[in-house]
Amino acid sequence: SKDILGLEEMDVGDIELILETAESFKEILRRDIKKVPTLRGKSVVNLFYEPSTRTRSSFELAGKYLSADVINFSKATSSVAKGETLKDTAKTIEMMGVQVVVIRHPVPGAPHMLARYLDAGVVNAGDGAHEHPTQALLDLYTIKEKKGRIRGLKVAIIGDILHSRVARSNIWGLKKMGAEVVVAGPRTLLPPFIEELGVRAYTRVEDAIEGADVVNVLRIQMERQKKGLFPSPREYAIIFGVNAERLKLAKKDVLLMHPGPMNRGIEISSDIADGESSVINEQVTNGVAVRMAILYLLNGGGKFGEKDN
Ligand code: CP
Repeated sequence: SKDILGLEEMDVGDIELILETAESFKEILRRDIKKVPTLRGKSVVNLFYEPSTRTRSSFELAGKYLSADVINFSKATSSVAKGETLKDTAKTIEMMGVQVVVIRHPVPGAPHMLARYLDAGVVNAGDGAHEHPTQALLDLYTIKEKKGRIRGLKVAIIGDILHSRVARSNIWGLKKMGAEVVVAGPRTLLPPFIEELGVRAYTRVEDAIEGADVVNVLRIQMERQKKGLFPSPREYAIIFGVNAERLKLAKKDVLLMHPGPMNRGIEISSDIADGESSVINEQVTNGVAVRMAILYLLNGGGKFGEKDN
């Protein structure tokens, strides 16, 4: 495939290839090498229709470290404000000679539509509540780096599962890599039929965290909740927030993860977010290596997507 649209459709071989390639780039970054000529002459556009700190900045750095030219497009300062469609915007940028389009869009399936329309590679950087594959890949990378494996681990994903593209991509990726996945959150934030994805679902956070090797806490997405948060942020913290007491139920060497941005004091308490189990900062660092691997593979490095070709 020329695109990375989601982990639902990605086969295990390609997931493993991305993780292995990311390891090579992590080693380069460990040596503080911030420029390799791999993508000299190539161009990447970050086409973001929703806000982002981590994903957009790390794709920009990943491209620049590989010597690609990177342009950042933002909805507010572009001709989208004059009514230009997504298709026309993307085609316009492609015709300037761009090889990879990284897109974040509020509509599920927007990257898939663009992938059919463009010759350029398309990377889904988050489409509504559907998928965020590069986040899940950096989460998989971080778990493998810290635990040495993914297979057989118990991973608890806690919080707003309903609105979470991170949860969906993580569930597909983790299951394919052989992990046991459980989820927990308020009944109002658990999608119906979630167990059809092969996960166990709980409404008591404690039941999910019990014996977990990894606890991945999700952001409460206030902006996607039309009627405001139910329960309220304060109630949420008391009943569902992950804090030191609840984290004690997990394995002693548990990894505490969060994709960011965090609502400190709501879904996660500050003491554990900054505590010794937390790998939240490492997730961010690993995001650069994983996105370097993705840009490298989509530009013809390695044998990504061979099965489809
Ligand atoms: N985790 C994540 O996607 O963060 P940003 O929204 O800051 O990119």
